[in-house]
Amino acid sequence: MSPTPLTVATAPATLSPMSRSALILIHAVASCAMALHGDIAHAQVPEPTALVDQQHCMFCHTSDAPFLAPSFRQIAQRYRDKPDARFMLEDKLRHGGKVHWGDMAMPLPEDRGGPLSAEDAHTLVQWVLSQ
Ligand code: HEC
Repeated sequence: MSPTPLTVATAPATLSPMSRSALILIHAVASCAMALHGDIAHAQVPEPTALVDQQHCMFCHTSDAPFLAPSFRQIAQRYRDKPDARFMLEDKLRHGGKVHWGDMAMPLPEDRGGPLSAEDAHTLVQWVLSQ
């Protein structure tokens, strides 16, 4: 088989300079959009560090390894696609509730470092579910 002289590589040379730069531009925009999309797909809600410290979340949880408690990644996997779950979780963080993972319940906010406002519970749950 002999190589065909007109390959994909030579094809753009036959385009006018105008459309060549347009192609390059489109390519640049497309790669940009893809990079951006990738960022969003992996974006994490920034850790609300002060809250997490104050409530000692990392005393029992880690981001990706089950320890004394399920990892935040496990929790996110379980609830991410359940739209109502975050209300249950926010309420549970503030007032406690049924155990869902094992025998050990999560301590109430008072025993974790202080009362937790609805807004702070919301922030924490959003962060957990983004992991
Ligand atoms: C003293 C240990 C401890 C601390 C501190 C702690 N957790 Fe937990 N957490 C647990 C345990 C144990 C479970 C599993 C409870 C269960 O089975 O529902 C749990 C479960 C959870 C769940 C899933 C609840 C469910 O119903 O599935 C979320 C969300 C969560 N923790 C978030 C947090 C956040 C956010 C903090 C900090 C504000 C925190 N935890 C602090 C021990 C802890």
